[in-house]
Amino acid sequence: MKSIMQTLTVGLGDRSYPIHIGSGLLPQAELLKPHIPRKRVAIVTNTTVAPLYLAQLQQTLESIGVTSISVILPDGEVYKTSDTLNLIYDALLQNRCERSTPLIALGGGVIGDMTGYAAATYLRGVPFIQIPTTLLSQVDSSVGGKTGINHPLGKNMIGAFYQPRVVLADTDTLNTLPDNELAAGMAEVIKYGLIRDLPFLEWLEHNMDALLARNTTALQYAIARSCQNKADVVAADERETGERALLNLGHTFGHAIESGMGYGNWLHGEAVAAGTVMAADLSRRLGWITDADVARVREVLVRAHLPVISPDLGVEKYMGYMGLDKKVEAGKIRFVLLQSIGRAVVYGDAPAALLEATLKACVE
Ligand code: NAD
Ligand code: GLY
Repeated sequence: MKSIMQTLTVGLGDRSYPIHIGSGLLPQAELLKPHIPRKRVAIVTNTTVAPLYLAQLQQTLESIGVTSISVILPDGEVYKTSDTLNLIYDALLQNRCERSTPLIALGGGVIGDMTGYAAATYLRGVPFIQIPTTLLSQVDSSVGGKTGINHPLGKNMIGAFYQPRVVLADTDTLNTLPDNELAAGMAEVIKYGLIRDLPFLEWLEHNMDALLARNTTALQYAIARSCQNKADVVAADERETGERALLNLGHTFGHAIESGMGYGNWLHGEAVAAGTVMAADLSRRLGWITDADVARVREVLVRAHLPVISPDLGVEKYMGYMGLDKKVEAGKIRFVLLQSIGRAVVYGDAPAALLEATLKACVE
């Protein structure tokens, strides 16, 4: 089936921006042109994505008379650091990039988050364009303006809210994505169903095989529906003073797994999946959902080829990392939990004994 481009909008007043989703978008210069004020851009990518898509993007830009400098970073979550961020600043300064020079992130969430933070801070802010090339970045990280880097003591601890001017999600780029990375993105797709969109969860339960087989129509539908959910949440609560925190289902546990296992050893989406099972387990212990609900959560994640058992870091280590979570308030860890399947809440009063039971029961 032929796919047609869909365009959604993140509604943020005069900072509103389009998300274009579809196949064959990378060669379409007119989608980028309105967001490039002068005839020069800086593309930030990595050693894996550059050989795949950099020349194509450069060609698209050249077709509208735009020249580019390229910053090619090492690949991996382990490089989402201040040292790597400095490589971006070095290149921008060496090439005398100006306030009107947009930064284009070409890659997954690691490149998107770091490039966005560089755009937010270089010369106190330059235009930013997202061209996400992983499922995870197309459904989540490229939308909503969270940018940043990791700190050895905690994930994504340094950053800024800084919105892109446009998001270009070309589904063709997913054809080169390894299977485990596609699965990792599915964890964030499933998240939208679990927290606020039960009909979407049901659709995912019926269409998981088509998604994993990379059926273009199914993928485009899942990406657009995910982005619509995210756009709605971000438009209502850009700076996460309320509802946006729900997008962190599984992330408090998941970030502890990522930090505790060493960045890059568990993919972000894998850690979120195992963390989502922990959140479901804790919700059940609170009496909010049933055993059958927890089984349903596990089942959809297993069908997406995601891990549902967390590593046994020990209760103390989990508590240490989770105590650094950005949702902590007055020293209390606030979890995103399920009141029912399709409805999440933020909850800071989970009894210590129940939390400890979850941290012991969901690990191996
Ligand atoms: P990633 O950026 O590390 O990309 C995964 C791997 O796929 C990398 O090796 C990358 O080089 C490679 N790759 C990228 N595109 C490819 C393609 N088309 N073909 C082949 N290989 C390709 O990981 P990710 O899952 O995209 O993103 C995870 C990051 O996103 C984490 O750092 C996480 O904290 C962050 N994140 C941010 C937000 C946000 O709102 N800003 C939301 C969710 C996750
Ligand atoms: N990925 C969580 C958020 O953007 O808020």
